[in-house]
Amino acid sequence: MPEIAYINNTFIPLEKAFIPINDRGYLFADGIYEVIVTRNGKPFLIKEHLERLQRSADGIILELPTSLSELSEIIERGIKEAGFTETMVYIQITRGIEPRRHNYSTELQANLTMTFRPHPEYDPQLTVKGVAIITVPEIRWSRCDIKSIALLPNIMMKQRAVEKGCQEALFVTEEGLIREATTGNIFFIKDKILYTPPADQHILNGITRAYILQQAALHGIEQVERECTLQETLKADEVFITSSTVDLLPVIKIDDSTIGNGRPGPLSAVIKGFFPKI
Ligand code: PDD
Repeated sequence: MPEIAYINNTFIPLEKAFIPINDRGYLFADGIYEVIVTRNGKPFLIKEHLERLQRSADGIILELPTSLSELSEIIERGIKEAGFTETMVYIQITRGIEPRRHNYSTELQANLTMTFRPHPEYDPQLTVKGVAIITVPEIRWSRCDIKSIALLPNIMMKQRAVEKGCQEALFVTEEGLIREATTGNIFFIKDKILYTPPADQHILNGITRAYILQQAALHGIEQVERECTLQETLKADEVFITSSTVDLLPVIKIDDSTIGNGRPGPLSAVIKGFFPKI
């Protein structure tokens, strides 16, 4: 089954999709994105993802090239066209195409592209065994709530983690506060209470994060959204990372500290069960 792209209002094989060199996404990472996965063939939490896309667009003063309902239809069409059992949809919207210059002309037409690839793309054993992560200094800007395609700090730190044989890197401020991982939000559990940093401008307000908080509330799990320190995270009973691509990934080691008994914990497994099966 071929991977496909949406570009210039049509679906074509992924390897045939090219972007002009003057696209401001290519030149400046001047754009925003979303990642949506399907469950049972249907895009999961699509409304929430598209609403966040709108917030990201507003955050960089970019007018979306289509309405959210049109976009939703294009996504559904792409999923059908690609024909995978489960699909990972990547949506990118850049400010448009014009010769390189830092300021932009306000008449630019935003450039919408998408790719449709098979999901899941990660090893399910990671969820079973749990993963090790490292901590890294928070070196990002103060609008991490915008899902910007400018991800240089994230990719540098993710690469550092991978080269150390770890799955992820957790951004920690100079004051010792945890923010989020390079590709997902962070939670910990202490004495059966679920903790996670607040969804302010320092983190991406994950759709998976919000889903877990909503489901946890429905299932009577006590939850606290507040600034969290690395010190208390290291002493937690369970730690996990969340994102659309991994759902929930148990963390069993942070730097040299083992979390809990070094195995994915029981409450993490309960919360993982809140997701409809793929
Ligand atoms: N990343 N924080 C960051 C920095 C992220 O990049 C992501 C997701 C999340 C979790 O968001 P959500 O639950 O809405 O997927 C949090 C996507 C998957 C990516 O960049 O591929």
